Amino acid sequence: MNLVKRFGQALHKNRPHLVGNGCLTPLIARTEFETRRSNLLRLMKPNSLAIFGGNRIQYASPSVFYPFRQDPNFQYLTGFLEPESCLLLHKDVNDKGEAILLVPEKNEFAEKWEGERTGIEGAKQEFGFENVISNEKLRETVQNLISKVSKVYADIDPKTTMRQTSFYSHELPKMVFSKLDLQCASTLCMQLRIIKSESELDCLRIAGEISSEVYNMAMTQEFKSETQLQSYLSFMFRNNGLEDDSYYPVVAGGDHALTIHYVRNDDLLKNEDLVLVDAAGRYGGYCADISRTWPVGGKLSEAQKDIYEVVLDTNKQCITKCTVKSGMSLYDLHSFSEQVMKQNLANIGLDMTMNELRTIYPHMIGHQLGLDVHDIDISDASSSEFVSNQVITVEPGLYFPHDSRFPKRFRGIGIRIEDDIVVGEDMPENLTEACWKEVADVQR
Ligand code: GLY
Ligand code: MN
Ligand code: MN
Repeated sequence: MNLVKRFGQALHKNRPHLVGNGCLTPLIARTEFETRRSNLLRLMKPNSLAIFGGNRIQYASPSVFYPFRQDPNFQYLTGFLEPESCLLLHKDVNDKGEAILLVPEKNEFAEKWEGERTGIEGAKQEFGFENVISNEKLRETVQNLISKVSKVYADIDPKTTMRQTSFYSHELPKMVFSKLDLQCASTLCMQLRIIKSESELDCLRIAGEISSEVYNMAMTQEFKSETQLQSYLSFMFRNNGLEDDSYYPVVAGGDHALTIHYVRNDDLLKNEDLVLVDAAGRYGGYCADISRTWPVGGKLSEAQKDIYEVVLDTNKQCITKCTVKSGMSLYDLHSFSEQVMKQNLANIGLDMTMNELRTIYPHMIGHQLGLDVHDIDISDASSSEFVSNQVITVEPGLYFPHDSRFPKRFRGIGIRIEDDIVVGEDMPENLTEACWKEVADVQR
């Protein structure tokens, strides 16, 4: 075996069919990762240290591991996809920055069981780091740097709890939390992640397009159960070039759709019911996020069609507002979606108060999208005016409970229509435009 090609992840040298020349993940160049680290260092105060832990493998039981997925901030800054790695960014008193990558060392025994590792020399050569050291030196390296700096940015979530999946959450909490001037590293990184580069947009375009085509194929076929439909979608995402599901899918027949995060996906599908699907694939780590609702038997009832058109019109009107020119924020867009939904319901004879509306439209219009499905989970991002190349979902939904407050013919109907939108100056770009949603298209 050619030793040069032994890496712990797909790179151009070992998987040229997956990763572009000069890239570390399918479409993102090594130089782009270097620029991201420089940009992050620029946001840091002088004399500070930022710690970005990669994820650890998670286990259901001692020998049963879940598929590994890298921490999005760590992936964004390094492109390094092996577990138990860590990035340290140190900025000294004179504003000079250095990056240190800690990775699992090469180990013949471990690699025989768990697969190849890139190792220290491989990481230096391929990933553009001068300083790469063994992850076994994490504690002493951080201890040494922490004693020098006056401020630490650590990978804590905005609620200030240490992320439990992070590699260093078991190693370092006491040391990091003893630092009085401690700030959230994720929040810092998310300021960069909110605006997508052209190559990030290309990843999102591929994820959106392929996921959309798979939905269309699914809509033309008959499935007897939620399980069959879910497995068809997951298989087709991967079989058509996506890495895996962006998130665990919702495949909800009939009134299972009233449970927003219904993931049992184990019931039979009935001809007279709708099926609400929230599923998508990801590419190069970048997530699509699509919901569609269609009639299992191929034809919408009058009541289903009435509600479908209310939601579809809300989806379309909201998409037109995803521009810089609209001057809106995500929160503004949500308020707008409530107004449109309320008016559309009134047009079919359903007058309701805003409070009543919120019982049947209980979630936000959307969220940021990127390496995470719920990308950039900080409220600043939702309250600031839209900026170009921000990517958000638009996903109005209505869910009518079995409750005498609502007309009988609507009870048990749950419909959501979700698209992925790139904010433009005066035109939005719909990444999931290819995915059918017109009444004529979702009826077989
Ligand atoms: N698939 C999760 C969401 O739509 O927010
Ligand atoms: Mn979503
Ligand atoms: Mn979704």
